[in-house]
Amino acid sequence: MAQRERWGSRIGLILAMAGNAIGLGNFLRFPVQAAQNGGGAFMIPYFISFILLGIPLMWVEWGMGRYGGSIGHGSTPAIFDAMWKNRFAKYVGLLGLFLPLVILIYYTYICSWTLAFSISSIFGLFPDADTLTGGATSGYLTPYSNYLGSYIGTSTEGLFLKPHYSAYIFFAITLGAGMLILAKGIAGGIERLCKVAIPALFIMAAILFVRIITLDSPIDPAMTTSRAFAFLWEPDLSGLLSPKVWLAAAGQVFFTLSLGLGAVMTYASYIKRDEDIVLDGLSTASLNSFAEVVFGSTIAIVSAVLFFGADGAAEVSSGGAFSLGLISMPAIFTHMPAGEFFGFLWFGLLYIAGLTSVVALSQPVIAFFEDEFGWSRKKVVSWLTLFFVITTALPMFVRGSLDELDFWVATFALVILALFEMVIFFWFFGSERAWEEINRGASVRVPRPFFYLMKYVTPLFLCIILVAWVYEQLPSLLSNGDTGVWIARVFLALLLVVHCFVIRAAWKRRERRGL
Ligand code: ALA
Repeated sequence: MAQRERWGSRIGLILAMAGNAIGLGNFLRFPVQAAQNGGGAFMIPYFISFILLGIPLMWVEWGMGRYGGSIGHGSTPAIFDAMWKNRFAKYVGLLGLFLPLVILIYYTYICSWTLAFSISSIFGLFPDADTLTGGATSGYLTPYSNYLGSYIGTSTEGLFLKPHYSAYIFFAITLGAGMLILAKGIAGGIERLCKVAIPALFIMAAILFVRIITLDSPIDPAMTTSRAFAFLWEPDLSGLLSPKVWLAAAGQVFFTLSLGLGAVMTYASYIKRDEDIVLDGLSTASLNSFAEVVFGSTIAIVSAVLFFGADGAAEVSSGGAFSLGLISMPAIFTHMPAGEFFGFLWFGLLYIAGLTSVVALSQPVIAFFEDEFGWSRKKVVSWLTLFFVITTALPMFVRGSLDELDFWVATFALVILALFEMVIFFWFFGSERAWEEINRGASVRVPRPFFYLMKYVTPLFLCIILVAWVYEQLPSLLSNGDTGVWIARVFLALLLVVHCFVIRAAWKRRERRGL
């Protein structure tokens, strides 16, 4: 068995895992979810999901990954197969390749928009609407939504989108950067990137945070920063009874921590056998939530309240993450002293957050081909680049496909993979063995109540989420029959079939080699 790569240092590992988790989800998705789901009240299901799902799954993925690495495997098909003696295990595990791949098909493209917007900001290319018209937010934002629309090509009619030619260039730069870093390996590429990128990201976020909380509202002198904070954090407790709010909170915890995707497990397969994963897992989850709760929400929402008033901010957030991050923020920066610079920082921050997640989500497939087919890293990266060049054509050109891909993988399928992870580790592999795997090398062992939580409560909670998701989403699922949506669904089905064939080929190869 060839020697597997390893992380170079503990701090490098923690920063890489933080880079894996911290992404567009922290700065674009979280503020919108919080604003749409009861503001302060959202934090109650968010923190409960964080404790009951986030932390246990984090430790489970670290534990399974480290175990897999010790037997020469870093991706879910092989790790599940090793832990669950069932011929279907590897096919269930294919989700850990399929999900990150599908997310990347649109995520890398979105990440490239943030690079384009960063450059647009520093060169003062955003439209300059003369006046702030207060309440008439939508009208005021029209030039900015047109700007985004013409960049990504949504402003034209019909099935096909026509992005601006620069969108191809920024996509090529982003994909190229991600793949070059990946080609350099775990310690030489990913770890080196994150050691610079994550501290830079926190510094940029802190500068933006200070700038936003010291801003005066240009439309209403009575609108102070503390009133703007109240918009976000004053709880609307009625939402606590709604399954939708709980689903949104659980979904956010998954997406932001990159759980149920296989990505954390793969990173964990490159750590030492006696690494303190209890402490390391907690540190990265805390870093991620800090970035999300403190910086992610404040920068985007508080500035929207200051500039557009509470109603305007609510309207902007109801339009979703792109409306908040890529339409209202350019408007705000255009009307702020030194806004070109702060806009450059904001979009630069998004780009860094996105890029560190792009490399993390690519790594499971790379590990799979290296470990199971014996391919060199450079060979896998070359094929992967070609795969993304071809498949990103879907979200780039077909209207409605991006949301459809996101709908399936980033809210639903990751809960299924997470449920399998918990059940395979704690029930098939054995709960005491799993517990020892997690606690090996820990300076402070996980308190015993977590054992029962992981064995019973977390899987049950995941089942409830799945049932609630189907109940909530099925009607809208059945009602949308746009052509672009169907193209995306057929694409997903075909890709799933291809994955099954690849897994079969890998196991045939293992049989031939007597493994
Ligand atoms: N965890 C990554 C994010 O938050 C995927 O964007």
